[in-house]
Amino acid sequence: MESRFHRGRRLRRTEALRSLFRETRLTGNDLVQPYFVVEHENPDVVKPIGAMPGQSQLGLSALLETVGRGKTAGLKSVILFGIPKEKDERGSQAYAEEGIVQQAVRELKENFPDLVVITDVCLCEYTSHGHCGLIRGGEVQNDPTLELLARAALSHARAGADIVAPSDMMDGRVAAIRQILDKDGYSHIPIISYAVKYASAFYGPFREAAESTPAFGDRRSYQMDIANAREGLREAAADLEEGADALMVKPALPYLDVLRDLRERFDCPLSAYQVSGEYSMIKAAGKEGWLDPTATAIESLTAIKRAGADLILSYFTTELLEKELIPR
Ligand code: PBG
Ligand code: ZN
Repeated sequence: MESRFHRGRRLRRTEALRSLFRETRLTGNDLVQPYFVVEHENPDVVKPIGAMPGQSQLGLSALLETVGRGKTAGLKSVILFGIPKEKDERGSQAYAEEGIVQQAVRELKENFPDLVVITDVCLCEYTSHGHCGLIRGGEVQNDPTLELLARAALSHARAGADIVAPSDMMDGRVAAIRQILDKDGYSHIPIISYAVKYASAFYGPFREAAESTPAFGDRRSYQMDIANAREGLREAAADLEEGADALMVKPALPYLDVLRDLRERFDCPLSAYQVSGEYSMIKAAGKEGWLDPTATAIESLTAIKRAGADLILSYFTTELLEKELIPR
């Protein structure tokens, strides 16, 4: 007898068939591992981050060793966040030639020339008040901040960064960074803009990791309102207009609709950041035995890629590669 209905199960019968018809494949090539490098008298220091099990603040030598192990497992790319010894009102260490991130970039590129080193460009880890821009009268100043962000990006490029990624959400920062890079001989360095970045509670664990909790107020006057999707398209268009080479949506899993909207509207490369809270939720539930943490991580990452991300920033990257749970 002829089957009169759709038989989806035909293509799911064996792993070989499932693999043949699989639409989305996650590999080590798609993933970027974030690292926190801390300025410390002991370069071997490894300070575990309580809210992010498996992640640590790393001294310079500890970072090199950790990345070396990751590379052996197939790690292709990292994004760096710095935790300076001294913070001040203007976030001076964000653009210091001998800042901790600048040192880390130099060392990483010297030891692993083919590693793609991305730097997060922002002031919040370096300012005493913990905001992403300069403060005047209790308000985060937009235009005066641009010059400092541009200087930070230039210092990263000088140190050898392959890509700079501004995450501050000041208006006009992509143009300001593009201009200073071009003027100083770094027209070949791409900018991934954190274009669609929401004022999200999912950054909670990161603020412990990067010691960047705002001393007053919150980031809602510069990061996007969580309720807005169309606004994300405007942010994306603006950053492309200013010269961004790739865009980012952040957080990732709670904003897959926005990621898909961007995928449909723009043909530029898209990235998504599976942020600290997305990571820690999975880790915490896994520790309780409530779900399988690595399977959940892979499912989340696959969903992010399926929605339209070309590359994904994820704290699971090295773990999944080291456990050989995804192909390199
Ligand atoms: C700094 C920055 C943040 C994150 C990336 N860059 C924190 C914030 O904006 O408050 C979040 C990353 C994460 O939660 O994993 N501007
Ligand atoms: Zn910031």
